[in-house]
Amino acid sequence: MSGLVLSLFPGIGLLDRAFEEEGFCVVRGPDLLWGGDVRRFHPPAGRFDGVIGGPPCKWWSSAANIAKARGQKVQPDLIPEFVRCIEESRPTWFLMENVRNAPVPIVHGYAIDPHVVNAEWFDADQRRIRRFTFGDVGGRKLPLQSLVLHRQARHNTVTMRNQKWDKLRQRPRSNNSTSEWPKALEAQGLPADFLEGAPFTWRGKWEVVGNGVPLPMGRAVARAVKEALAVKSEAALSAKDDARYERSAEKQREWWRNMSEEERAEWNRKRVAGMRRYERGRAAKESAA
Ligand SMILES: C[S@@+](CC[C@H](N)C(=O)[O-])C[C@H]1O[C@@H](n2cnc3c(N)ncnc32)[C@H](O)[C@@H]1O
Repeated sequence: MSGLVLSLFPGIGLLDRAFEEEGFCVVRGPDLLWGGDVRRFHPPAGRFDGVIGGPPCKWWSSAANIAKARGQKVQPDLIPEFVRCIEESRPTWFLMENVRNAPVPIVHGYAIDPHVVNAEWFDADQRRIRRFTFGDVGGRKLPLQSLVLHRQARHNTVTMRNQKWDKLRQRPRSNNSTSEWPKALEAQGLPADFLEGAPFTWRGKWEVVGNGVPLPMGRAVARAVKEALAVKSEAALSAKDDARYERSAEKQREWWRNMSEEERAEWNRKRVAGMRRYERGRAAKESAA
C-alpha cells in the first residue's frame, strides 16, 4: 500500500492533517475556497488507495430545512458528487465525514461501516457529533476506539455562530472575535498561531476552522483507517473486477460529460432519495434487531 489519498472538499485541511500525521500522503482535490469546483473534477481511475472528504453539510442541517421551506437558496447537497468521484477513481477504501442527518454514501462494490461519534470521546475539548462512513472493497471494518472515560468538553461545536456579529458592518465585533478565537482554536485542537498571517478575513478564518474536523477526532479516525488497512482483506477485488470497474468508470465519465446541468441536478436528486431509502431500511432493521 502506497498510502496515497485523495482529499475531496479539503477546506483548510484539518482532516488531511490528521491523515498526514498517520503517515498517509494526501493530495488535495478542488475546493471553492481556492477556485476549484468538484462538479468539474474527474479523478483518474486506479491511482489512489483511498479517498477522504467531508462534503458541505448545510443542506442536511435543521436550519436548512427552515430555509428550504421558505424557498430560500441553500448550498446544494454534494454527497452525490463525492459518490461519483469514488465511482470514477475506484480507490480501495473511502471515508466520508458529515453531520448525522446526512445520508450514508452507497457505492457499488464497497461495504460500508458508518460510525456516529462525538469529538469529546476522543479527548477533543469540544462537543461535536459527526458521522464517519468507511467504505472498503474488502469489507473491512473501522476499529474506531473512543475513550471509555472521557472528560466533559468545555466548548460547544465551533461555528461562525460562536462569535457576535456586527450585522451593520458585516463583520465580527472585534473584541468578541479576538477573545473567542483562541478558544475556537483550542477546541479544534489547533496551535494558537494557526492561520496567523494567512490571507483570510476574520469571517473567513472562523468559517474554515469551524468547518474542519477537530484534530483529535481526525487523528482517531485516521489511526482507525490505518489499522483497518493492516488487516488482510478477505474479499479484495480480483484483477478482472478491477478491469471491469475501470471500464464502467470510463463509461460513467463519458455519460456525465454529456449531461446538461438540469439532468445532473435530477440525477443527484434521485441518488439522494435512494440513499435516504437505504438509511430508513437500515434504521428499521437495527431497531427490529
Ligand atoms: C466541511 S468543509 C471541509 C472541511 C475539511 N474536511 C477539514 O477538515 O478542514 C466543506 C468544504 O467544501 C467546500 N465546497 C463547497 N462547495 C464545493 C464545490 N462545489 N466544490 C469543491 N468544494 C466545495 C467548501 O469550500 C468547504 O471548504
